[in-house]
Amino acid sequence: MTHTRSSAYDHLLPSTRSVHAGEARRKPLGSLIEPLFQTSTYTFDSMAEAVAFQDAHNKGHVEDVFEYGRYGNPTIAAAEARIAALEHAETAVLVASGMASLAFTFLQYLPSGSHVIITDDSYRRTRQLVEDHLKKFNVDCTVVPLGDFAALEAAIRPETRILFSETPSNPYLRVLDVERFAEIGRSRGLITVLDCTFATPINLTPLDYGIDVVIHSATKYLGGHNDLLAGVIAGSHDVVDYIRGYVGILGGISDPNTASLLIRGLKTLDLRVRQQNRTAQKVAEFLAAHPAVEQVWYPGLESHPGHEIASKQMAGYGGVLSFTVRGGRDESFRFIDALKIPYISASLGGTETLVLHVAAQAYSDLKPQQCEKAGIPQNLVRLALGLEDADDLIADLDQALSGL
Ligand SMILES: Cc1ncc(COP(=O)(O)O)c(C=O)c1O
Repeated sequence: MTHTRSSAYDHLLPSTRSVHAGEARRKPLGSLIEPLFQTSTYTFDSMAEAVAFQDAHNKGHVEDVFEYGRYGNPTIAAAEARIAALEHAETAVLVASGMASLAFTFLQYLPSGSHVIITDDSYRRTRQLVEDHLKKFNVDCTVVPLGDFAALEAAIRPETRILFSETPSNPYLRVLDVERFAEIGRSRGLITVLDCTFATPINLTPLDYGIDVVIHSATKYLGGHNDLLAGVIAGSHDVVDYIRGYVGILGGISDPNTASLLIRGLKTLDLRVRQQNRTAQKVAEFLAAHPAVEQVWYPGLESHPGHEIASKQMAGYGGVLSFTVRGGRDESFRFIDALKIPYISASLGGTETLVLHVAAQAYSDLKPQQCEKAGIPQNLVRLALGLEDADDLIADLDQALSGL
């Protein structure tokens, strides 16, 4: 069984890739659907076959022959090939979570004594991983404001190995000039790593701009149904194959059942993301005009500082927005409690609209003054749009805001 590499899909558009990329035309027993190989190990018919496998393996990459579950699985390989095709990548590795994809990439490419630069407004756990935990491995880190390229260049040292950023960022949806970021990395011989969970490959394919590694929390839009946890690392064989090897040693692999759910979710990725782009734009415009709302952050609004660059490099502005409710913590709690459709929950990218009080949920360990200092006011709300009708969501938001 052959999982066709992404180059076979180069001429196809994202919706076709979402449905077909990476699959073998003829699957076992003529199955239309990618089979779920729920197995932890694989067998050989004879010692001659086992030895031939080992010989081939020792000489380099063995495609579509599997020895043991920690090193590969056909269902996982099919999900990886589909994501690689969507990202315009040579290859992709599926791992246990978005955080695992970040941890493996950093651990592989940040030896003891090295240095990494990360932009602010990145996912909080990523910042904690880089700022606190990598210190144990004698890895130093500098945080620079997203979009401040002078600060980025000034922070580069001889021992710097990785430039890391996210776009759009969380919770302010700031937009990185991806081409400029990649160019700085290339000219200084550094690996550029971009977490594009919020963008999805439907809205942005950063490898086309020269980025080396794209990371996703596949838990979000790629899975799309709030029913799995996974992470993805995509890029060239030169860079990603080392991470694949490292994952086989550290063991934070994904599992076939998750990969099967992911393949199913990916089939509707293009459809879902386009709808979520449309709904978010409509909701952002509604909120921006509402008297009970102070400010809205959404790259699709002309007032957003990232609007111009997002319009140049993205096919859509994404399905997440943040806004401040007029008032403080009490008013924003009352508003959230009055909502009937969105669920109060910490994730994003699925079929259900989710609402998050950023200070109380994502920064619950900080006191209000510390939150304020970190740029997180007590009335900041994040909304991750699902697939409900935009008009129903707007009516619900309106009734909840009107009650304040
Ligand atoms: C931008 C971003 N990156 C990474 C992660 C971590 O992903 P996971 O929860 O799949 O480990 C998240 C999770 O919320 C995220 O929002």
